[in-house]
Amino acid sequence: MPCMIIAGGQWGDEGKGKIVAYLALTDRPKIIARAGVGPNAGHTVNYKGRTFGLRQIPSGFVYEGARLLIGPGVLVNPEVVLKELEMTGTANRFGVDRRCAVIEPAHIEQDTKSEYLQGKIGTTGTGCGPANVARVSRTAKLAEEVPELKPFLADVPAELNEAIDHGSLVFVEGSQGFGLSLIHGTYPYVTSKDTTASTLAADVGVGPTKVDEVMLVFKAYTSRVGLGPFPTEISQEKAEELGIVEFGTVTGRRRRIGLFDFALAKRAVMINGATQLTLTNLDRMFKGAAKVRRWRDLPSDAKDYVDKIEKELGVPVTIISTGSEVEDVIDLRSEKL
Ligand code: IMP
Ligand code: MG
Repeated sequence: MPCMIIAGGQWGDEGKGKIVAYLALTDRPKIIARAGVGPNAGHTVNYKGRTFGLRQIPSGFVYEGARLLIGPGVLVNPEVVLKELEMTGTANRFGVDRRCAVIEPAHIEQDTKSEYLQGKIGTTGTGCGPANVARVSRTAKLAEEVPELKPFLADVPAELNEAIDHGSLVFVEGSQGFGLSLIHGTYPYVTSKDTTASTLAADVGVGPTKVDEVMLVFKAYTSRVGLGPFPTEISQEKAEELGIVEFGTVTGRRRRIGLFDFALAKRAVMINGATQLTLTNLDRMFKGAAKVRRWRDLPSDAKDYVDKIEKELGVPVTIISTGSEVEDVIDLRSEKL
């Protein structure tokens, strides 16, 4: 299966970063290409005792054999890109498409000063919405016009398609999640672009017939940062009783917490064309599930919960995350049940 897209099934923060890192170390893709909106995303990777908060560089960087690319559909903030290249030490295998639109200081100012965007929508304030407005208005600056990015300019669609045509494995790493999609989400409480697999493929220049697998990532419960509808939300007190308190990676805002939303998840599976599911944070819902790496070692209530989600959604759960470290995974692709 040469091309796999990894997408979020809820409102972002499903744990895609850790999952892409795990899959990269295990499956060893030739290329990992970042798709999605831009640096409004925060993907966290805990590996070998270090924590990396990534907003632009693909989370699979921990696998040293992979070329790391940012697709032309993704917005780039050059300052963030350069900082993350230094933090991860990956400049020698990194490429950014020359057609990526650039987030400029004025976009960040518009995003953070707008009463509407901050007060009503609750954006991340990273300038993504205004930069996408500039892109649609045909006034955006492109990556090829930024001197600091010159050494890294690449033709991402050409690299990816060549690898796919040679039968090499490539990953397309999405950002945000289904409920935040500009088209399919809870408009107007959404991000500035579609976040589903079709757009993720377009972001990196891979046609629909070249995609083999869509891995849709869900948290075992649901969380949401920012404003907007959240049908299965529970009170902060109830969340605390369950021991679930979370803060956003990019904004530091406290996340709203809720139960797993089957209706949302079914729609996400349908519109993303999911072929496999990942379930993350199982350890936070079930005592005894922490750091478990084999299905048979899971408590039976946790097993029942996974089975129920798989049955309701009609797609196999192949990866289960049981902790924050990259290796805290039950990989049902390799485990005989
Ligand atoms: P924007 O994408 O910064 O314009 O923010 C629009 C909405 O999407 C806000 O509710 C944000 O909190 C949410 N959002 C954007 N990116 C992420 C993400 O990576 N994780 C979770 N929420 C996000
Ligand atoms: Mg996040």
